[in-house]
Amino acid sequence: MTVTRGLEGVVATTSSISSIIDDTLTYVGYNIDDLAVNASFEEVIYLLWHRKLPTLSELEELNQQLAENADLPKEVLDHFSMYPIEKVHPMAALRTAVSLLGLYDEEADKMDPEANYRKAIRLQAKIPTIVTAFARIRKGLAPVSPRKDLSFAANFLYMLSGEEPKEIAVEAFNKALVLHADHELNASTFTARVCVATLSDIYSGITAAIGALKGPLHGGANEAVMKMLSEIGSIENTESYIREKLANKEKIMGFGHRVYQNGDPRAKHLRLMSEKLTKLTGEPQWYKMSTRIEEIVTGEKNLPPNVDFYSASVYHSLGIDHDLFTPIFAVSRTSGWLAHILEQYENNRLIRPRADYIGPGMQRYIPIVQRG
Ligand code: COA
Repeated sequence: MTVTRGLEGVVATTSSISSIIDDTLTYVGYNIDDLAVNASFEEVIYLLWHRKLPTLSELEELNQQLAENADLPKEVLDHFSMYPIEKVHPMAALRTAVSLLGLYDEEADKMDPEANYRKAIRLQAKIPTIVTAFARIRKGLAPVSPRKDLSFAANFLYMLSGEEPKEIAVEAFNKALVLHADHELNASTFTARVCVATLSDIYSGITAAIGALKGPLHGGANEAVMKMLSEIGSIENTESYIREKLANKEKIMGFGHRVYQNGDPRAKHLRLMSEKLTKLTGEPQWYKMSTRIEEIVTGEKNLPPNVDFYSASVYHSLGIDHDLFTPIFAVSRTSGWLAHILEQYENNRLIRPRADYIGPGMQRYIPIVQRG
């Protein structure tokens, strides 16, 4: 048996959703650079799910479906009060709440394509409401109901703060959602596909994916980047802090990637946004520290930043709590997870690899009273 650690380079499926070829990321053949500048997140959801860009009426229909399904069942809203709330990370809350949501969907176990599409709409619509409601309830604030007249990005920011967001914030947030929407067979998407390939339901697939995204080597890296920037605290401290970490062979969060050789194409869009927003908020130090870290890590290790590195200072500049960064990644990536789940169901085969056993050879059972 040949073991490929971490399944590096292993091609586990065909897919028509997104591709990474020569360090270029495309969604259904559209370059991410093009979509980041021009597309709304809602258009991207449609693109990933239907593998074509929507017409105006198709987009309006999707917008309406998302708006009509954004409210949460009362039971899901109420259950947060049972948590030891100060200790619960919002990703754990999201994972639990999505699983719970499945209990209140009468179609949860209906597996025909139409029912699965309806559930995809419900999940995409409700996950932002879960994240924002939890974010407010843990601060003793009442959740803010979703509005039907706002875009997906604007509605999220509105539900989080209770105030209608500024245009620049909506533009930045929409761009971040577009950039995080899908990414070929990343760890959480693979998790979702493995789960539903047993013909388990969509709620199980998304719950499993959220669990995989939570880890610091995947989606959890954006929160870890902001923690690092806060610990460094100033431009003067940056060089010694990073060099010490590198000397201790510690990983610098937000750098490196399994697939990209010459850099993550999403990072440059977030870098530009970080520069713009940190200037506007009067906190340019976050951007300056980030570019200094980039210089050092790229120079020393030849590792370019990934999507998580500059998204940290972008979200911070939008006034978002640091532990909500990864749930925001989940809000966006839900669109990709759902696209992959629907694609997996279309042409399913159980995903079941092998392990090369390296434990002890054949042993004989000894009754417990005779064991030394
Ligand atoms: N900082 C410092 N060194 C890093 C590094 C980082 N962020 N990422 C990788 N390396 C080094 C490793 O230490 C290792 O060096 P070695 O060969 O001397 O031991 C080498 O690069 C390969 O790293 P490895 O962890 O095996 O690569 P991978 O393909 O398994 O991992 C990541 C990819 C993304 C998990 C990895 O780069 C990482 O942990 N990055 C930080 C977390 C992060 O930003 N995750 C978000 C990804 S979008």
